[in-house]
Amino acid sequence: MQLNRRQFAQALAAAPALAAAPLMGVAASAADVASSGAPAASRSWFRDARFGMFIHFGLYATLERGEWVMHNERIPPADYQKRMALFNPSGFDARAWVELAKAAGQRYMTITSKHHEGFCMFRTATSDFGIVHSPFGRDLIGELAAECHRQNMPLFFYFSLMDWNNPAYKESLEPKTPVSAAFIDTIQTQLRELCTQYGKIAGIWFDGGWDHTPEQWHSADLISLIRALQPGALINDRSGLPADFSTPEQELGHRPEKDDGRLREACLTINDDWGYARTDSRYKPVSQLVQSLATAAGSDCNVLLNVGPQPSGVIQPEFVDRLHAMGAWLNKNGTAIYSTRPGPAMYYTATASTARGNTWFLHIFNWPAGTSLRMDYTVKGEIRRAYVVEDGSAFPYQRMPSGGITTTATNKGWSPEDCVIAFETGTDQTA
Ligand code: GLC
Repeated sequence: MQLNRRQFAQALAAAPALAAAPLMGVAASAADVASSGAPAASRSWFRDARFGMFIHFGLYATLERGEWVMHNERIPPADYQKRMALFNPSGFDARAWVELAKAAGQRYMTITSKHHEGFCMFRTATSDFGIVHSPFGRDLIGELAAECHRQNMPLFFYFSLMDWNNPAYKESLEPKTPVSAAFIDTIQTQLRELCTQYGKIAGIWFDGGWDHTPEQWHSADLISLIRALQPGALINDRSGLPADFSTPEQELGHRPEKDDGRLREACLTINDDWGYARTDSRYKPVSQLVQSLATAAGSDCNVLLNVGPQPSGVIQPEFVDRLHAMGAWLNKNGTAIYSTRPGPAMYYTATASTARGNTWFLHIFNWPAGTSLRMDYTVKGEIRRAYVVEDGSAFPYQRMPSGGITTTATNKGWSPEDCVIAFETGTDQTA
């Protein structure tokens, strides 16, 4: 039996204080790990960046049915491993991927270095089941990391704890069975490789830990190992310990009532799948993607938007077009997203609210060009100037005795998906 994600969360909540045994010379208690998070400078660049690119790429791409295909279709490991002979993403171009992320306005990237299938997209001494042993024969993670350094793009490595093709992992699939020492040793070695072979990395993005407790994974030790080798690294919450940031999946996540000081990043797909899926054509419209980004920023949350490259290593045009459209919107309106904090609470569902210092950014969703807007908003404090962010034109409004404003403005061709109005005021607008 495997624990699902909910059962895993429940088990975690009920777990007693965690203490992990020393491994490979790295020993840490969960309490130590919790009190020594990533440095302030890392936390701050990440929070200001707001938008990243998620890349799901692995052997599964060759089957064109998402990254869970081996598990979903019960493909025996021996058959699955033979597919390695078909893996040759000769169209892979690290420069093109990084340029695409830049064109989309994304400020960091996160790539699957090893997904649940266990196929290593990086050079490793732990296994022959990896990219350098495929016909492609190159270290894709290494090439991407080098290009990211060249273009000044922070890069995270997604790393799955579970590993369907590793017999040492499969022996311990029952949740009550400890993960074998041999397998823990393998993941420690792999993390060490990821943290030492590619220069400075932005962080490690764990996943697939729900079959076991953080105690069984020795998560505190894994985190200490990363912190020791990459002192600036940010670490997500999916090793079962909270670490630096939480990762709501396919939802924007709720902002905690009381700021708990932890960073948040929502990961979203453009269609329904993470890994390339040929028949998945449920692409989200650009308007929805832009509005998700604005809504997330308005609740102090980043968005990590996914692409699953095709088996050739090329990113399909439906993703490229949408990413370019987001970049075009951000080019005009990025000031209302990057380095912002949540603005005053808004009670309209068709809006988002962000702020920087005394400037409040009101995001108006779905306002078609040529139509007028009839709404009243509450604005804190004295208004010194109100303008449409994308062209600087004055935004007409009337101030009410209550302090609120009304408007009958007409959309003169501004972005209908999210037209941002800036209000420069005499008061701090950050919530
Ligand atoms: C889940 C899935 C996985 C995907 C990830 C992205 O954990 O198992 O396939 O990589 O979510 O958040």
